[in-house]
Amino acid sequence: MNVLILGSGGREHAFAWKLAQSKQLENLYIAPGNAGTAQCGTNVNISATDFDAIKNLVWEKSIDMVLVGPEDPLVKGVHDYFLADEVLKEIPVIGPKKDGAQLEGSKDFSKQFMFKHGVPTAKYKSFTKDNITEGAAFIDSLTPPYVLKADGLAAGKGVLIIDDAAEAKAELQNMILNAKFGNAGNTVVIEEFLKGIELSVFVLTDGKSYKILPAAKDYKRIGVGDTGLNTGGMGAVSPVPFADEAFIKKVEEKIVKPTINGLVKDGIDYRGFIFIGLMNCDGEPSVIEYNCRMGDPETEVVIPRIESDLLDLLQGVATQTLHEKQFSVTKDIATTVVLVSGGYPEDYEKNKVVTGLNNITNSQVFHSGTAFKNEDVVTNGGRVFAITSFGKTIEDAIAKSFAAAETVNYEGKYYRSDIGKDLMNLGK
Ligand code: AMP
Ligand code: GLY
Repeated sequence: MNVLILGSGGREHAFAWKLAQSKQLENLYIAPGNAGTAQCGTNVNISATDFDAIKNLVWEKSIDMVLVGPEDPLVKGVHDYFLADEVLKEIPVIGPKKDGAQLEGSKDFSKQFMFKHGVPTAKYKSFTKDNITEGAAFIDSLTPPYVLKADGLAAGKGVLIIDDAAEAKAELQNMILNAKFGNAGNTVVIEEFLKGIELSVFVLTDGKSYKILPAAKDYKRIGVGDTGLNTGGMGAVSPVPFADEAFIKKVEEKIVKPTINGLVKDGIDYRGFIFIGLMNCDGEPSVIEYNCRMGDPETEVVIPRIESDLLDLLQGVATQTLHEKQFSVTKDIATTVVLVSGGYPEDYEKNKVVTGLNNITNSQVFHSGTAFKNEDVVTNGGRVFAITSFGKTIEDAIAKSFAAAETVNYEGKYYRSDIGKDLMNLGK
C-alpha cells in the first residue's frame, strides 16, 4: 500500500516510524513532514491544509490511504473534500469528517454531545453576545475556580481558569465582546472546575467497533513542577499508574461506549482517532475534552507501545473490520521528553544546527520541529524533538530519555527535568 501522512510534528514522525515497520507498506509519503519523517519515507513540501495540492499528490503517487495527523485539516473538512471528489472518494481517509471533527472544533458542540449521550463531564452553560448578561449569574452559581473556554479552535490557548468571580466576568466580556481569542470566542463555555488527576485515553474507531489504545499523561506547562506558560506538551508517560485496569474499564463503560454509540445515533460516521482528555476525580472519570486526532507528544509513547501492525489496524478502520484485527500492547513503560527551542512557548529562534543525534542508541528520537539545511539537521519549531525510551519502571525509562536529551545539542536547548517524577512518587 502507498500511504500519505498529513502533518509535520513528532506525532507524524511516530506514525511514519510505525507504518514503516508494516509488511503491507510499499511507499510512504509525508506532507510536509520534517527531517525525522524523511528517514521513514518521502517528504513532500505541501501544506496539510492545501487540499488541491494533496489531491494532485494522491493522484500522482497512487496513494491508497491518507492518515491525518493534526486537527486543522479535519476541522476544515479534508475528509469531506475527498468524499465530494469523483476521483478521491474511494481513497480512505483516517480521521473524521467535519461533523465528527466538531467534537474538537466546537466545545459547545462537544458539551451538548456529552450531555445528550450521558457521558460524564462538568456542568456548563454556553454564552454569546445575546445572553452574555446571564453569564455573571451563572458564574455566581459556581464555586471557584471558574473555567472559561472559547468555543472554537484557539491553538490550545482558549481555556482560562480564574479564581476571582469579578475577573471571570471581565474575561467573559473580553472573550465575547473584545474578541480576545478572535472568532473562536464568539461563544464561550463556562463550566464547573473538576478536581482530580488528569490523563488521556485514546480510541481508534471504524464507526462501529473500537480499540482502546494505551492511556498517557502529558506535561503541559513549560516549567519544572508544572509552572509557567502552557505549551503543546513537554513530555509524556504511558501507561499511567493511577489508571489501572478497573479505572480503564469504567472509562470504557461510562465514556467510550456512550461516545461511540452517540456518534452512531447522531448519524456521524466517525473513522479515526478520538483523544479523550479526562479527569480522574476520586476514581470516577469525567471528560474534560475530546480531540479528533492523536495527541502530541502522547503519540510518541502510545504508538511505540502498540505491538500490532498499525497499517493493518488502519485498514480495519477503512473497511469497518476493526473488530477482526489483532491488537496487543506491551506492558513495558514508555516515556518521552520533549526538547524545545530557547524561549518557547514565546518567541524563539530557528535554524540552530543539531549535533549528537547519531550517538543515541537506547532511545528513539522523534523529530517535532526540524528541517534539513544542506547536510545538517536544524531546528525548525518550538518543540524540536521528543525522545522516547522504554523501561520496566518509569525510573528506568526516563533515565534513558534524559541521557539522550543530554547527548543531543543545539543552541538554546531546554527540556523539563521532572517528566514522570510525580508518577514515581505515587503511592510511595
Ligand atoms: P482544554 O483546552 O480543554 O484541554 O483545557 C486545557 C486544560 O485546562 C486542561 O488540560 C485541564 O488541565 C484544564 N481544564 C479544562 N477544563 C477543566 C475543568 N472543567 N476543570 C479543571 N480543569 C480543567
Ligand atoms: N498534548 C496535547 C495535545 O496534543 O493536544
